[in-house]
Amino acid sequence: MITVRAPATSANLGSGFDVFGVALDRPADVIRVERADRTTIEITGVGSQYIPTDPDKNTVGAVVDALEAPARIEIDKGVRPASGLGSSAASAAGAAVALNELYDRGLSREELVPIAAEGEAVVSGTAHADNVAPSILGGFTIATGDGVHSVEADIPLVACLPEIAVSTRDAREVVPETASMEQLVETVGNAATLTMGMCQSDPELVGRGMADPLVTPARAKLITGYEAVSQAAREAGAVGVTVSGAGPSLLAVCRDDQRRAVATAMLDAFADEGVEARAYQTRVSRGATLF
Ligand code: HSE
Repeated sequence: MITVRAPATSANLGSGFDVFGVALDRPADVIRVERADRTTIEITGVGSQYIPTDPDKNTVGAVVDALEAPARIEIDKGVRPASGLGSSAASAAGAAVALNELYDRGLSREELVPIAAEGEAVVSGTAHADNVAPSILGGFTIATGDGVHSVEADIPLVACLPEIAVSTRDAREVVPETASMEQLVETVGNAATLTMGMCQSDPELVGRGMADPLVTPARAKLITGYEAVSQAAREAGAVGVTVSGAGPSLLAVCRDDQRRAVATAMLDAFADEGVEARAYQTRVSRGATLF
């Protein structure tokens, strides 16, 4: 039996819509696989009741097919589905790493990214790699049509997950179809600043580079309390706040010694809006790990 811990991830980071992602050190899914003639999937943990166990409908089914690796699969969910923290991606990434090992397929981590992305497509409709790439490779990742680049980074983060339902479909429908040259220039500048910040493990640069004039303002409207929570996080020391993935989680960048205050401020601000939430004091971390 092979066991893999696959981390939650945060995609977009504001200025890197559909391209940037980071692995978080918590929460995570744990995936166990064992050789079998026929694939079965058993799911426990947070939100497991909402996830189909039919391999044709589950994110790991496509991974099994691509690797020709039938297995008895147990998934212990630590990443809540529909959280904006890469829940389905964590399962797909963990399954890809585990089945590659179980069947000795010999694929590199980079080669496993498009395979796990196919698994993502089963649930989200499109094979975005911006969540599976960091869950497999760790660190900060840049996923483009040409492939994936990754770099290790050490950035303190707070991910705050409200009890709000935001469907990825709705969150994609509000994305503007066009951008002005001014917005484009601003976004390129911010994305470059963020990338430099990741390479230097500099939270200040990362936070400044997360600013986004295009997608985040449209998506923020879908999250009750976004402006108040974002402002509270900044007042508590966060240098950047954005929507994590398609939401509803918010992601804040701050110094290590400010994480507790930022987490508390975000939770209090959500509570003031009548929204229950939980906060993860986390950081950019490594990718899926074999036990
Ligand atoms: N980049 C994707 C989005 C991540 O923001 O819609 C969620 O699949």
